Amino acid sequence: MIVIRGATTIPCDTKAEIQKAVYELLEQIESRNSLKKDEVVSLVFSSTSDIHSYYPAKAAREAGFTSCSFFSAQEPEIDGSLPLCIRCMLFVEKNLSPSHVYLRGAKSLRKDISGKINIAIDGPAGSGKSTVAKRIAKDYNILYLDTGAMYRACALKVLEEGVDPEDEAAIVDLMRNVKLDIVYENGVQKTLLDGRDVSEEIRQNPVSMASSTVSKHASVRMHLVEKQREIAGRMSCVLDGRDIGTYVLPDADFKFYLTASPDVRAKRRYDELKAKGAEVDYEKLKEEIIRRDEQDMNRSFAPLKQAEDAVRIDTSEMTIDEVVKTIGRIIQEKL
Ligand code: DC
Repeated sequence: MIVIRGATTIPCDTKAEIQKAVYELLEQIESRNSLKKDEVVSLVFSSTSDIHSYYPAKAAREAGFTSCSFFSAQEPEIDGSLPLCIRCMLFVEKNLSPSHVYLRGAKSLRKDISGKINIAIDGPAGSGKSTVAKRIAKDYNILYLDTGAMYRACALKVLEEGVDPEDEAAIVDLMRNVKLDIVYENGVQKTLLDGRDVSEEIRQNPVSMASSTVSKHASVRMHLVEKQREIAGRMSCVLDGRDIGTYVLPDADFKFYLTASPDVRAKRRYDELKAKGAEVDYEKLKEEIIRRDEQDMNRSFAPLKQAEDAVRIDTSEMTIDEVVKTIGRIIQEKL
């Protein structure tokens, strides 16, 4: 199933103009996509709030689209939106790369991802990466890959087995005998260690520092980076981490580096842990975050650093919505 989008405008709000514009739009969509009417499963229209004279869906039925379901909706009045505009989405049972059609000055309000793309979001702990990455992934209906969860799962195993997080050889040995899987349930990433769901456990504070320590080791990184590249090679995804733009996917289509002051980052983590009912000391947490960043930035193999071609966003004074909008705008400009 694919979705073809279209939009057009009318010079004035009359039944005849609506019919004419809808016929023309659907005709163009059909010819540019070599589409047969009976391949359309569903047709959804929306029109701006200044259009009242006729249902675009009725016009579509009159144009010969008789075997699909229809829906017409009115859009709210939004400042700056194009007047007298009709938009449509055709859900089509066909495997093609859709050609969207915009006529009479109507333009695509949002471009969608049609080919495979990878979006890299790097930055220190608490910079807002994961919240933003999840939102972007949901927005574009692509996968979110939390690479930190992999290092955390490895660290959890190391702690459980009483292995020293500094002992590279012992960790590699351990990881050889453990099955680490990343699976998705309703779009949410779950981290499995030998089939056990550890998604919650790996968020606990002691695991954070240990994950930074185990991630220093080149052989541990190589093992996990291979999995990350394999997933990103198969599908469009947003990956967040420390080295995505610099090492894992140096050719990522979009690269962002999020940062924020240590105080803001510590406060975010503090609120997050508090909300989960954990007992936390703010000053200690801040000190740990600074220590972890130092370790992540100063390791010799694939350290945390901004890729030269990444867009840097300081999120200290920004809301999540503002960060998501900024990133969305940059993606839209380049898509
Ligand atoms: O993003 P996070 O806090 O869940 O990451 C935990 C640790 O894992 C982080 O301190 C460093 C390491 N990490 C890494 O080295 N490379 C990544 N791509 C992701 C995380």
